[in-house]
Amino acid sequence: MTRRDALVAAAGLGSAVLLSPTAASSAVRPIPFGSAAQIETFRADPRYRQALATYCDVIVPMNDLKWEAIRHDRALFDFAGADELVGFARSQGKALRGHALLWGEALPPWAREMSTRAEAERELVDHIETVVDRYKGQIETWDVVNEVIKFDPLPGEPMRDTIWQRLLGPAHVEIAFRTAARIDPKARLVLNDFNFEEPGPGTAARRKIALDLCRNLKDKGIPVHGIGMQAHLYADKPLDIDGLQNFMVELGKLDLDVEITELDVIDWKLPADIATRDRAAASLVGTFLDTIVSVRRPRAIVTWGLSDRYSWVHETFPRKDKARARPLPLDADFKPKPMMAVLDRYRRSQS
Ligand code: XIL
Repeated sequence: MTRRDALVAAAGLGSAVLLSPTAASSAVRPIPFGSAAQIETFRADPRYRQALATYCDVIVPMNDLKWEAIRHDRALFDFAGADELVGFARSQGKALRGHALLWGEALPPWAREMSTRAEAERELVDHIETVVDRYKGQIETWDVVNEVIKFDPLPGEPMRDTIWQRLLGPAHVEIAFRTAARIDPKARLVLNDFNFEEPGPGTAARRKIALDLCRNLKDKGIPVHGIGMQAHLYADKPLDIDGLQNFMVELGKLDLDVEITELDVIDWKLPADIATRDRAAASLVGTFLDTIVSVRRPRAIVTWGLSDRYSWVHETFPRKDKARARPLPLDADFKPKPMMAVLDRYRRSQS
């Protein structure tokens, strides 16, 4: 009898328990773990570089593949930051995700001012051709489109209002995937978006739209390999466990992978006590991942940063009491927090 069987027997637990999300976690194969990396911090802080090297199987340039970074001048492509992070990842034997080929945000002013369909299509296609080609064979997975789904969709209005939607209509999704696939047929192509996890009809609609967009691509013979769940989890909001599990089932029916792409915990509404916050964050991440894994094994689990010293949550979700946010698996001194212990249950490289 294994130790686990003995524990189950001693506790008088039946086999049904083994099917519960929590129990499933102990039996899964390791899942590649990674983090988004900020170039400024990467250049400035050797502890940050060390943490990336130590903990990550996968690196994602956090901002340096966005249009704002690459296309600040309309006439040229500036790959300085992206090249540096890609070079580091490759020298360390890490895999790479590319984020993101199309997004309605982080655009340079000239791109926000495009005014015709032909101009938008020409720029989008040219951008994707150039960027995907540069990193062909190096960046194996691309967030092809990011946040294209409306925040709170209305019936018949699934798409977010962006420059791409205004000028190209819903076809922008198709154009982006088709172009990426043409340039790098071996790349894994992902539709990335946020809030697939909260209860409520708006989120359910978002999940359905994500699936519909992917089904539509597949029906047209355009490759799409997975859905990226950003998973910026709110510590003060519940998870829709049934909704998440059904989402995984539906992904499976379409033969799509799931990737967790921007995991962190927004703790702005929690009490200040650090131990309380860290426990809550770890438990939320554990429940979220266990729920996903109980149905479908993610291709990767990626956090949006590694250390609480550096996170977008500080600025975007500031606490009223001015205490620093604690969204990530390492604390501000790069010490593992309870969230890292939860992630360790899934990570490939134990350090
Ligand atoms: C954020 C970065 O973390 C910040 O450094 C930057 O100033 C703004 O963008 N969803 C996304 C990410 O897809 O690209 C965003 O990243 C966070 C929300």
